[in-house]
Amino acid sequence: MFNLILFGPPGSGKGTQSERLISRYGLKHLSTGDILRSEIANQTKLGMEAKTLMDRGELVPDEVVIGMIRSALDNNPEAKGFLFDGFPRTKAQSVALDTLLSEKGEGINVVLALEVTEEELIKRLLNRGLTSGRTDDVNESVIRARIAEYHKKTSSVADHYREFDKVVGVKGEGTVDEIFDALCEEIEKRKVA
Ligand code: AP5
Repeated sequence: MFNLILFGPPGSGKGTQSERLISRYGLKHLSTGDILRSEIANQTKLGMEAKTLMDRGELVPDEVVIGMIRSALDNNPEAKGFLFDGFPRTKAQSVALDTLLSEKGEGINVVLALEVTEEELIKRLLNRGLTSGRTDDVNESVIRARIAEYHKKTSSVADHYREFDKVVGVKGEGTVDEIFDALCEEIEKRKVA
């Protein structure tokens, strides 16, 4: 199994690159943001509770997203590996993920961290907000709140995996193809290692 965390702030290109990486490497894509948006679209109780927090740019409680990932792992026993996108987002989520994977005799192979300047993140998200319908993209103050939440709570995830020497920074600016090639290069190194 090859398990990869695609890490980075909101708008760094995790979703864009995930689509390509799962197709190249046959991994199962687990995006907690996508799962939450599907709960919202289906107007479930969980979705409605999450929406209030997401619209403010705040994180959903750890136990909610950890439960979602636990189910996804259990429901995909045949997967060749997982690409985690937008998860883990707190130290507690990282520890929980490590435990869930180790119960299956697995672990995280690498954390690829996309590096993008704050001005570029804001530009990308405001631009997407013009057409995407994502309520957390339309307003610059919510975008800034998401980035602040990332610095406050999510950067500790990289610190956690740095302790195990698993984090590799990748420049997240340039064309989508250039960034994809750089990510693949890092994956290939780890796959043969
Ligand atoms: P989530 O859905 O995870 O969103 P996010 O992290 O804010 O990330 P985005 O989807 O906005 O950006 P991305 O990095 O995927 O970039 P993308 O490829 O889309 O989370 C949303 C919310 O859900 C959170 O705020 C939280 O409330 C909740 N949540 C989710 N997971 C959670 C968890 N684990 N714990 C607690 N709460 C959780 O690209 C962005 C834009 O840039 C696109 O328009 C794209 O076309 C463009 N773009 C991409 N690459 C390039 C490039 N190279 N050059 C120019 N433009 C580019």
